[in-house]
Amino acid sequence: MLELNTIHNIDALEGFKKIDDESVDLIVTDPPYNLASKNRVTKKGSKIISTKEAWGAWDCFHPFDYDLLIMQIISQSFRSLKSGGSLYMFTSGEDNGVFIRMAVARGFRYRNQLAIVKVNPLPSFYKNNWRHAVEVCMYLTKGRPATFNFLSQRECNNVFMHALGRKETQHPTEKPLAFVKKLVQVSSNRNELVLDPFMGSGTTAVACEQLGRNFLGFELNAEYITLAKRRLRNGER
Ligand SMILES: C[S@@+](CC[C@H](N)C(=O)[O-])C[C@H]1O[C@@H](n2cnc3c(N)ncnc32)[C@H](O)[C@@H]1O
Repeated sequence: MLELNTIHNIDALEGFKKIDDESVDLIVTDPPYNLASKNRVTKKGSKIISTKEAWGAWDCFHPFDYDLLIMQIISQSFRSLKSGGSLYMFTSGEDNGVFIRMAVARGFRYRNQLAIVKVNPLPSFYKNNWRHAVEVCMYLTKGRPATFNFLSQRECNNVFMHALGRKETQHPTEKPLAFVKKLVQVSSNRNELVLDPFMGSGTTAVACEQLGRNFLGFELNAEYITLAKRRLRNGER
């Protein structure tokens, strides 16, 4: 049995093996996107560098291995969720439709897609394509959703605006805490169990701690776990 409210330094699929069937209320996760490349750029502090340099090995897969990984994550998520549990998974725009179809084929119910709009996206350096200003997240449930704590018409808009640049850690792909908190608040209740198998800098863990949910996290990189523990200790707001 895995210790709760802990980020375990373990591979996501190995971690899932330790989770009982139908034991998790909510999964919020942001897996690798397999987009790291010499030709795509991102910002690190004030420097513009390739995504390959920024994200490193954890975001590089053969396309077949990548699809297989995500298929296994979807399948294990379905097994681990209680009936009525929810899965929110961030994906790259180009993979989103494929992964929704995989999830529906596994038995998930498609509910919606949420978008984070970056109000200050990076400029288009080569000026040969549209700027990347949107991140997408799919929302699926195992059958009829057990919990949907509707907040207000304005707060339950599926488009969320976010300004880049106010990050809490050095993790290259930290997600906005306010957005992740909203997912946890709407799709779980106090003391329920939330799983994030790709915890990164611990955004899901911080959201759970602030909202009185239990969490379980997996993360391969011990340095990212150190960042996450610091966030949890400091009681970030
Ligand atoms: C996109 S990042 C998650 C960022 C996170 N949402 C945050 O706000 O910081 C994906 C994370 O998954 C980790 N990772 C990659 N492959 C993994 C695996 N097989 N098992 C567990 N963690 C993995 C990476 O080290 C990286 O920190």
